[in-house]
Amino acid sequence: MSKTKSMTQQSHPHVWSSARIAETYLAFFEQHGHLRLAGHPLAAPENSTSFIIAGMQPLMPYLRGSEPPPAPRLAALQRCLRTDDVEMVGSNDRKMSAFQMLGNWSIGDYGRREAVELAVELLSIFGIDWQRLWITTFGGDPSLNLPPDEDIVAEWLRAGIPGERIVPLGAEDNFWTTGGPGPCGRDTELFIDRGEAFGCGRQECRPGCDCNRFLEFWNLVFIEFEQHPDGSITPLPLRSVDTGMGLERMALLLQGAPSAFHIDLFLPAQQRLHSLLPNEHDSHDGHGHDGQPSAMLPAQREQSQRMIVDHMRAALFVGAEGTEPGRDGRGSVLRRLIRRAATRGRLLGITRPFLSELLMPLAQAHGALLSEEEQQRVPLLEEMVRQEEQRFQRTLTAGLRMLDSITPGERGVVPGELLFQLHAERGFPADLAAEILAQRGLQVEWPSFERATQAHREVSRSR
Ligand code: SER
Repeated sequence: MSKTKSMTQQSHPHVWSSARIAETYLAFFEQHGHLRLAGHPLAAPENSTSFIIAGMQPLMPYLRGSEPPPAPRLAALQRCLRTDDVEMVGSNDRKMSAFQMLGNWSIGDYGRREAVELAVELLSIFGIDWQRLWITTFGGDPSLNLPPDEDIVAEWLRAGIPGERIVPLGAEDNFWTTGGPGPCGRDTELFIDRGEAFGCGRQECRPGCDCNRFLEFWNLVFIEFEQHPDGSITPLPLRSVDTGMGLERMALLLQGAPSAFHIDLFLPAQQRLHSLLPNEHDSHDGHGHDGQPSAMLPAQREQSQRMIVDHMRAALFVGAEGTEPGRDGRGSVLRRLIRRAATRGRLLGITRPFLSELLMPLAQAHGALLSEEEQQRVPLLEEMVRQEEQRFQRTLTAGLRMLDSITPGERGVVPGELLFQLHAERGFPADLAAEILAQRGLQVEWPSFERATQAHREVSRSR
């Protein structure tokens, strides 16, 4: 491998814009016999309510062997959206709702050796510092009846990675599944050590630790099994490779950005957001949303800003494909993203609708990562977001006022009926309310929320 050359190549003279990273990746795999596919729309093919959550999802029929692929080697940039744990967005330097995943696939073609060789060659083009590269591998799992993946360890050693930076982990970390039935397999993950300054300081901090020090940026999955609804696995007819490199994470690393929310794709929107925030003096001195004292800690303010740019970028992706905010399905996801971002803005002290102003800076920063048609839709999206946010204003004001007046019961627990009322009478989302309360150290008593919801359902039915 070209290790000796790239070992010395620690800083790259060029600026790695996100668009350039994506193009370099796709062109590299094309040169190595991969067919470049257009990314699938975010709307998942087989489920009308959800979005693509992994780069491999559109390729499932090929990986399963149920449809022939257009070529045995494929590469693509795929937009993904995961909103199941949207309240965690921005809680660390990498957790986003929408993200873009670069992938290369071998459908029954090459295996571990070539997957590693290709990865090493591409990383040397990116000028990755080998001293900071760590690898995790599958360490075996008795319940899956699978021994440690010694073959992949041998490949990494062969590529020149020292054994002390190859860490075997359990199935939880290194056996990739879609989260349900489907193609799955052992994986090997690539991490960069960002340095102690980003770490949790614990002696045992290693790749796999939740802190910001070791950043996973590429996952090479060896898809060899099908997982069934009961969790059991059986071999697939083909042995394939499915890799996923987080574009935003790679940009974080190559641009030396403090977080994935501060890369080239977000900086203009961050600047715009900053210009809208009440100045330091005002916010410290006193007033958050609606004239109430602001209770936000600096870390919460930072997370809120990350959430706003993240959610508006997700809204841009979803809206650019033609989805409009609504009550059901994908439209409800879009509505939720807009409402969440609007709420965060108000908590930061922005007292007027502002979200639409972030769309153009986001779209411009994404440049060719959005199609021409999508770029042309941006003014329409601005109008759509403006109207949606406007409609939410009164609910937001009333909801926050009501939340402020809540006095917790014993041990800081808020009765769930209160959140139900807020939702039923004011249309204020309960999850959002719970998040705001959590920020004040208050827990929600969910069983009584469920009971109130159930009782309401029964009353509506009997009417
Ligand atoms: N399917 C794997 C992932 O989503 C690699 O693409 O991480």
